[in-house]
Amino acid sequence: MKSIQTDRIVIVGAGLGAIYAALRLAPRPVVMISPENLGEGASSAWAQGGVAAAMDTADSAQSHAADTVKAGDGTVDPTVADLVTEEAREHILHLTALGTPFDRNAGGGYVMSREAAHSYARVVRVKGDQAGAEIMAALIERVKETPSIQVLEGTMAVDLEVSDGRVTGVAVQSANELRSAPVMLRGSAVLLAGGGSGGLYAVTTNPPRIRGQVIGLAARAGAVISDAEFVQFHPTAMDVGEDPAPLATEALRGEGAILTNKDGERFMQALHPDAELAPRDIVARAIFAQSQAGLRPMLDTRDALGEAITSQYPAVADACARNAIDPATQPIPVAAAAHYHMGGIATDTHGRASLSNLWVCGEAASTGLHGANRLASNGLLEALVFARICADGIATVVPETTAERIRVSFEDGGTPPDPDAVAELRHTMTGCVGVVRDANGLKSALRKIADLEAANQTSVSFLNMTATATLITASALKREESRGAHCRSDFPDTLAGDGKRSRLTLRDALAIRSQICKEAS
Ligand code: SIN
Repeated sequence: MKSIQTDRIVIVGAGLGAIYAALRLAPRPVVMISPENLGEGASSAWAQGGVAAAMDTADSAQSHAADTVKAGDGTVDPTVADLVTEEAREHILHLTALGTPFDRNAGGGYVMSREAAHSYARVVRVKGDQAGAEIMAALIERVKETPSIQVLEGTMAVDLEVSDGRVTGVAVQSANELRSAPVMLRGSAVLLAGGGSGGLYAVTTNPPRIRGQVIGLAARAGAVISDAEFVQFHPTAMDVGEDPAPLATEALRGEGAILTNKDGERFMQALHPDAELAPRDIVARAIFAQSQAGLRPMLDTRDALGEAITSQYPAVADACARNAIDPATQPIPVAAAAHYHMGGIATDTHGRASLSNLWVCGEAASTGLHGANRLASNGLLEALVFARICADGIATVVPETTAERIRVSFEDGGTPPDPDAVAELRHTMTGCVGVVRDANGLKSALRKIADLEAANQTSVSFLNMTATATLITASALKREESRGAHCRSDFPDTLAGDGKRSRLTLRDALAIRSQICKEAS
């Protein structure tokens, strides 16, 4: 394999965590592996709600941490919850200084949205539903002014090189159809900040390329994966036939929008005292049940917002317009969709993975903040806090230096993922490893994943997807209880006491998969 030696720190990904870390590391030279043009294709830019932070004087980091722990259903690490919530305010002020135009009230204070399972309105927002896009735009402006940051646009990481337990390189391919032979980049340290796994599911709110590849490549290199079974389904993805499904932010329900069905029934009131603002897993299961029963669940914003939705929630209004829905006069059809992976590459409180010289932040990481059910708008916050922690950790081992810009030329030689195999994998995950799971479905998913993997051995990118799919499914099979977003119809109760976080290597997950395949043969 062709290789390039560099003094740059290699950052896999180009979303919020990647950019924030790259800025923090300056003037240390970094190279960011960005599959699309910078700012495009990252989940962070699609985040609508905003960043959770106790900015109101009546609110507190302690209350935010308590809500985080409660939402996580017994599997949040309280030390991590305290760490992240205590730093939240400082990061909002820093993002503001970097140019993020957060919504302000007449007195100059931050306007805050209310989202499910928060005791206060504490989600700092931009133009209603533009938080992710606007934060990213402000940071990308700063990247352009920072010469230490090189962005390799159109490249995708597919493998890690490991020597004696230490990560020494990242193999990249041209992201354009992934037909090129991989090139190994050997840098001074590696930070994985490359997104989650939502696109492994056929119904998802995640950008098209986000299919668990970063978790998969780390798992294939031997990294420990935590909480893989905990996948969050968003209750109000628009059910309009688009892939990915456009999101209708939870902030709309914070404004008073209600959930109804084709019979006009407001079903959440009977299910939870907080009705539409019940924890996200509860609302997602209710929406899923309505869809399964053919009752066509809908989000009704008419009384809460009327015409104002167009100016106050432009992303939602645009998606409605594209699909000939007028939300001022019509309810929006919705479905539960894979939205956020709470699990990921296990990290300690310094953002370090189980392999040395490897740091992870953002959705690909499993820090212990989210437990079995992430509190709304804690995702961007976690990315910010751990991007800085990772950058500061890397800075202690990588000296300030200068480095030439990297020039990569790709030659043919790679196998792109087969679109039919990807579609089959995604349908398997939605059908058998989705909102409600049982042993039969999970076992049949493991067999299907094994078959797809065996038939597609030459596409490394596809192997990264099947690695993550295997980990999610094997962990879901192992967890014989229902907890947070992990719902087993054959084990409906939550086991007593605090939940234990799962930790699995790919080798462990493959052993479970082999056993299931053997039983069936
Ligand atoms: C939303 O705006 O509903 C999503 C926010 C999040 O997933 O944190």
